[in-house]
Amino acid sequence: MNDSWDFYSAGRLVFGTGSRYQLESHLSAIQKESRILLITDPNLVQAGVVDQLLTGLGSGVKKCMRIFDGGEAEPSIEVAMQASAEAKSWNPTVIMGLGGGSNMDLAKITAVLHTHGGQPSDYFGFNRVPGPTCPLIAIPTTAGTGSEVSHAAVLSDSETGVKVSTLSPYLRPSLALVDPELTYPCPRKVTAESGMDALTHAIEAYTARKPSDRTSPEPNGSPYPGKNPLADAMAEKAIRLIAHNLKTATNQPLNQEARENMALAATTAGLAFSNGAVALVHALEYPMGMALHCSHGQGNALLLPHVMRYNLSTRMEAMAEIAVMLGVSSPAMSQEESALEAIKSVETLNQTLGIPHRIRDLGGRRDQLEGWAQKAFDIKRLMDINPRQPTLKDLLQILDAAY
Ligand SMILES: NC(=O)c1ccc[n+]([C@@H]2O[C@H](COP(=O)([O-])OP(=O)(O)OC[C@H]3O[C@@H](n4cnc5c(N)ncnc54)[C@H](O)[C@@H]3O)[C@@H](O)[C@H]2O)c1
Ligand SMILES: [Zn+2]
Repeated sequence: MNDSWDFYSAGRLVFGTGSRYQLESHLSAIQKESRILLITDPNLVQAGVVDQLLTGLGSGVKKCMRIFDGGEAEPSIEVAMQASAEAKSWNPTVIMGLGGGSNMDLAKITAVLHTHGGQPSDYFGFNRVPGPTCPLIAIPTTAGTGSEVSHAAVLSDSETGVKVSTLSPYLRPSLALVDPELTYPCPRKVTAESGMDALTHAIEAYTARKPSDRTSPEPNGSPYPGKNPLADAMAEKAIRLIAHNLKTATNQPLNQEARENMALAATTAGLAFSNGAVALVHALEYPMGMALHCSHGQGNALLLPHVMRYNLSTRMEAMAEIAVMLGVSSPAMSQEESALEAIKSVETLNQTLGIPHRIRDLGGRRDQLEGWAQKAFDIKRLMDINPRQPTLKDLLQILDAAY
């Protein structure tokens, strides 16, 4: 069966070194006189990234801006409530997220709560945001999550021990402003790990099921419809860019070409996964990352080769194509040899970047694996779109191999 598919992005995507200087003109195009709430975190204030953005703005705009700098990595529901209280007191007409995925997601949830009221948990899951939010601007400072163009916002729920996603077309920002220069102060570890998150997005999107191959389509539609040609094109672009630029961006933080290419890779990977899919790697990372307090990118990077190996039998051709994109295939290789080379290349990249390759290296215990397998198994939207349908035992075996 031929699939029909559609494709979404941010309302407007502005990309380029120095593009932050255009923010004021884009702001006035969105709204004549806005009251802005800028959501960020103390590290970005200290690293000078907030100043990098503010220097491009006139005093009129700055007077109408309040800064909430209480964001945190992998934000909790409690921090979302604090940001929402700030929004209540300032009553902004525009909400802007400056940071990695954490601050952009926090800005998204704050915009939802500010516009529609209630608690974060009222909106967990797919399609539960009842309508548009106030205009939302996303300005990434990592090259990783693609949240600037995605329909997702992730919070950490300490009560259930998993990360919870709010997924809605209304969470795609009105404006995504991607200025690669804002990633220059990004610490080495964050550059490496968020870059591997982008690679995971691209590989999971490229190897996902097609919409017509789904076994149990959800009645109200799915946040992850599956593989489609435009998402594939975005994923391919991202994989090629990451293979050629992630190591350089990590080792030479001021390398303009590498930073630009990684920023482009993260955004294209965001377009790929948010119109295609993320799958089993993300499902396993959500409980594991919560328990081990590792970054989302670090958890994904560690799990990615193991999930690729599990999916290999059903995605041999796609993985061989990924090997070509990663630059590790040669004409003399069989399809299977190429596919195996792709997995090996991801492992080597992790090693080169200094990302731990075993769960125990992140402080995990073997007796935790069963609980994570069960929690991942329960995230049906991610299980269903994975190319191979895992049993609970399969999940445990994947985790065990990664242990
Ligand atoms: N919404 C989505 O589509 C989506 C997709 C994937 C992941 N996520 C979520 O995004 C979060 C991870 O985001 P991330 O990987 O971008 O990292 P992050 O936003 O958590 O940032 C990590 C750390 O790096 C610091 N930092 C970020 N940019 C910096 C810079 N330029 N200079 C100095 N310090 C900087 C931050 O202050 C923070 O302490 C997780 O919560 C994850 O679940 C969201
Ligand atoms: Zn991710």
